[in-house]
Amino acid sequence: MYDTKKYLGARIQEIRKLNGLKQSELAELLDIDPKHMSKIECGRCFPSFELLDKIATKLGRPVSSFLELEHLYDSAIELVKTQLNIFDNEFSMRFQRNPIHNIESRIKTPQSIVGKLQRKGMPVTPESARNNLTDIAGVRVICCYIDDIYAIADLLTDHSAFQLRKIKDYIKNPKPNGYRSFHMILDVPVYMSNGKEIAPVEIQIRTIAMDFWASLEHQLHYKSTGDPKIAASLTGELKE
Ligand code: GTP
Ligand code: MG
Repeated sequence: MYDTKKYLGARIQEIRKLNGLKQSELAELLDIDPKHMSKIECGRCFPSFELLDKIATKLGRPVSSFLELEHLYDSAIELVKTQLNIFDNEFSMRFQRNPIHNIESRIKTPQSIVGKLQRKGMPVTPESARNNLTDIAGVRVICCYIDDIYAIADLLTDHSAFQLRKIKDYIKNPKPNGYRSFHMILDVPVYMSNGKEIAPVEIQIRTIAMDFWASLEHQLHYKSTGDPKIAASLTGELKE
């Protein structure tokens, strides 16, 4: 197991030195106690997300360059995608058709991680994100038919390396607003040079039609700045 605090501290120190700053100078720029700065760099404590954001700005690097978490989640996504492509190719070889129409993936942005932790009333630290959020890594699989969704879900469930954490079947039990999709959280082992790390990956499997519906509904509710009444009436229409 590698130590995220030590890694983060070392990365901050490394980039600070590249910027030609002394530890005390960076602490002054950040308006924090030099002792706190020293603890962060030694890996004895995590900076808060806000402080990390400030450090990143002062050192002219994106926050992600300090987070090995990003690498971990990215690797977990790649492993899931590779396995999905293996399934798809095998289907195509055996049955002359592809069950997967396309695959999308994303890593939650630091801003969105902070927002979700705040909404849930949880500590806003990288450690808390690692322990409390299961949707930092997300993979969306768009299939042609409903049967394909369950075939893919079964294959992932039976895969001996992946550990199934949770299933939410919004196809058998659609949400009241009409949302349909099959969700699963898988624990994916990632083998690094210094040991194994487990990362949860949220996988959403749905048909092209379900995906089209979800994007419209998402735009209406999450992105719309318009009249909520109009959004509600359009959702009514979407349900039909
Ligand atoms: P979140 O905290 O929103 O992630 O939900 P959850 O942890 O209860 O998990 P759930 O499986 O219900 O939802 C996970 C993800 O599915 C969400 O982040 C959305 O991307 C998607 N989703 C869930 N419900 C809806 C919905 O009603 N409409 C749309 N468009 N997407 C949804
Ligand atoms: Mg989510």
